Amino acid sequence: MSTLEIRDLHVSVETKEGPKPILRGVDLTINSGETHAIMGPNGSGKSTLAYSIAGHPKYTITGGTVTLDGEDVLAMTVDERARAGMFLAMQYPVEVPGVSVSNFLRTAKTAIDGEAPALRTWVKDVKGAMENLRMDSSFAERSVNEGFSGGEKKRHEILQMELLKPRIAILDETDSGLDVDALRIVSEGVNRAKESTDVGVLLITHYTRILRYIKPDFVHVFVDGRIAEEGGPELAERLENEGYDRFLTGAATA
Ligand SMILES: Nc1ncnc2c1ncn2[C@@H]1O[C@H](COP(=O)(O)OP(=O)(O)OP(=O)(O)O)[C@@H](O)[C@H]1O
Ligand SMILES: [Mg+2]
Repeated sequence: MSTLEIRDLHVSVETKEGPKPILRGVDLTINSGETHAIMGPNGSGKSTLAYSIAGHPKYTITGGTVTLDGEDVLAMTVDERARAGMFLAMQYPVEVPGVSVSNFLRTAKTAIDGEAPALRTWVKDVKGAMENLRMDSSFAERSVNEGFSGGEKKRHEILQMELLKPRIAILDETDSGLDVDALRIVSEGVNRAKESTDVGVLLITHYTRILRYIKPDFVHVFVDGRIAEEGGPELAERLENEGYDRFLTGAATA
C-alpha cells in the first residue's frame, strides 16, 4: 500500500521574462489501487503537475510538498523517484536515437530494481507484454520512439509501465491520438497493471472515452493551476457536456 501526497504545491516555469507561476496550490492524494482522472482546459498546468512530480529540471517548486509514503519526493533525483516507484508516461514522448526499445527497457528495469532481470523470464515478459499491446516484435530492435507514430509512442509508454511495475503511474494524455482499437488495447494494458500490481494511477485526459475503459474513482477539474472541483465519474460526463465555462468565469473574477 503506497500513498502519494501532494500538498499546496506551487510551481513556476523558467521563461525568458523570468519565472512564471503555473501551479497555485495543488492538493491531491493518490493511494495504491485508486485511479484519479484530471481534466481541464489547455494550458491549465496539468502537464506541469506531471513534470513537477517526475522532477523535470525546467520547473521550480516554489512551495508545498510531495511525499511518497512519507518520503520527500522533491528532495529525490529523477532516478531516485523512478526507483521509489514513480512512473510518468509523457504527453509527448521523446525520441532516443541509437537506443533500442529492448535495451532501453532492460536498462530501465535494471536501474529500478537494482539488479538485472533474469534473462529468460525477462525476454518472455517483454514478448508477452508486446503481444498484449499488439506491438510487432520488430519494435524491440527499433530506436526508442524514433519514427514511431503517435499511437505507437503511447503503446510504448504503457509497455514500460507494464514491465517496470511502478507504485504510482502518471499518464499524461496517453489516450490522445489513439484510434478506437488502440484506445481499448492501451486501456486494457493499464487495467492489467492495476489488477496485477495495485498501482495508483493519475490519468490526465481531455476525453471521457478513455474513462469508459479505465474507471476512475475520482475526477478532478484542473483550472488555472489548481483543482477547482472534485467528484466521481459523473463529473467527467458533466464536463464533456458543459465544458469548463463555469470554472473559467470563477477564475477570472477570483
Ligand atoms: N517554457 C515556458 N515558457 C512560457 N510558458 C510556459 C513554459 N512552459 C510552460 N508554460 C506555460 O505553462 C502553462 C501550463 O502548461 P501545461 O503544459 O502544464 O498545460 P496543460 O494543462 O498540460 O495543457 P494541455 O491540455 O494543452 O496539454 C501554459 O500556459 C504554458 O504556455
Ligand atoms: Mg498537457
